[in-house]
Amino acid sequence: MKMEDFLQIKEKVAEGYLPQWVITDQEVYSLEQEKIFAKTWLFLGHESELKESGSFVTRMMADDPILLMKNKQGEIKAFLNSCTHRGTKLCTEDFGNKKTHTCPYHGWSYNTNGELIGIVAGNKIYGESMDKSEWGLRTVPRVESYQGMIFGNLDQNAISLEEYLGEMKWYFDIMLGRSDGGMEVTGVPQRWIAKANWKMTSENFNADPYHVQTTHRSAVEMKLTPTDPLYASYGHQVVLSNGHGINVITSATGRGANQYQGMPEDMWPMFEKNLSKDQLEVFSRVTNFVGGVFPNLSFLSSQSGTEGNKYNHLQFRVWRPLGPDKVEIWVWHMIDKALPKEYKEKSYRGFLATFGAAGTLEQDDTENWARIVEASQGRMARDRKLNYNNVVNYLMGFDNMEPDSEFPGPGIAYPTCYTDHVARSMHKYWLELIMKNLEVKANGS
Ligand code: FES
Ligand SMILES: [Fe+2]
Repeated sequence: MKMEDFLQIKEKVAEGYLPQWVITDQEVYSLEQEKIFAKTWLFLGHESELKESGSFVTRMMADDPILLMKNKQGEIKAFLNSCTHRGTKLCTEDFGNKKTHTCPYHGWSYNTNGELIGIVAGNKIYGESMDKSEWGLRTVPRVESYQGMIFGNLDQNAISLEEYLGEMKWYFDIMLGRSDGGMEVTGVPQRWIAKANWKMTSENFNADPYHVQTTHRSAVEMKLTPTDPLYASYGHQVVLSNGHGINVITSATGRGANQYQGMPEDMWPMFEKNLSKDQLEVFSRVTNFVGGVFPNLSFLSSQSGTEGNKYNHLQFRVWRPLGPDKVEIWVWHMIDKALPKEYKEKSYRGFLATFGAAGTLEQDDTENWARIVEASQGRMARDRKLNYNNVVNYLMGFDNMEPDSEFPGPGIAYPTCYTDHVARSMHKYWLELIMKNLEVKANGS
């Protein structure tokens, strides 16, 4: 890519557009891998998925297979899931519990600390010359967690996870830290592959309640959601640091459709104990929280079911890019540990029916994400000179909206969720990251 390409993107982003060519461009995609996915905090899993020592799950950080394990001391460790002998993928299971992991190729084995503990016929072949301690699994340079959410970072020098999450922590505390005992993941994450670009899927959750009334029209027709075309606009869209964002969607009255998202009343004293006054205020306004942590973690805390019979669920999802036009979607259902079993089951069923791999609302979104990439791969859409005015539109609220200084939570809160403020902020941060050190490189080469 030439410097003029970057400058053009910069100019268009500042004007509330995005050149359409960047959506599916292979060079942009490679830069994203290098400048974004290798440098930012990526979600790996939730602590409840690793209950005992020896528990493990296998995950991905963009293209790197990761083995996430709990060691004997109860610490969570993340390793490149690759045998140090010849690089074979060590563990192919999604989850399980093992004291040792043995490579299927030549039989080297590793303990839960990632240490190489066994070499087949070791002494006879390698003699004393090889120091096993140098051949342990490669660790993910940084692993940190917040409210049970475990993240990894390939950049040893990255800022801390807490600093990176910044203002988002306040909202995570409401969703994840409201009840005693925290949250737990139900079952295992579902995952599937969709034709989509990761930026568009992230945006859809983090920044786009505007699509709800049209894309999810079938939910309105089934009387699962209100007929009011503005129903997903009520509340605030909040721009947070580092490209993160959240929509605090309320009912038309500015309050939650049901107090504390319809959670059972005997849970309320717990919320009131664990959250601050301002957090409780936001929690009692919200019908749905929907947002995300840049680059590719999104969440939705909503209520499924029919009126009078609604159950809250919290889902986290990772959009793992498999190319500029393909995404592997991972979705975790989470629920408060302290809730009764029956509530948890109903919440899970509601989640599966709406946002599981075969969920009705999921199908609606997937169709549009595929259509974006389908229509962005031709000569006109990919023209870098923008001869065909091939920019896409993020002008909602561009120059006609002031933040609401009365909003009780951190971040810059706009008084509606039908605005593109978070999307524009994501584009700016995205560009800042992909252009980082670019001038130095351009001068130096
Ligand atoms: S590649 Fe794993 S033991 Fe040889
Ligand atoms: Fe949607």
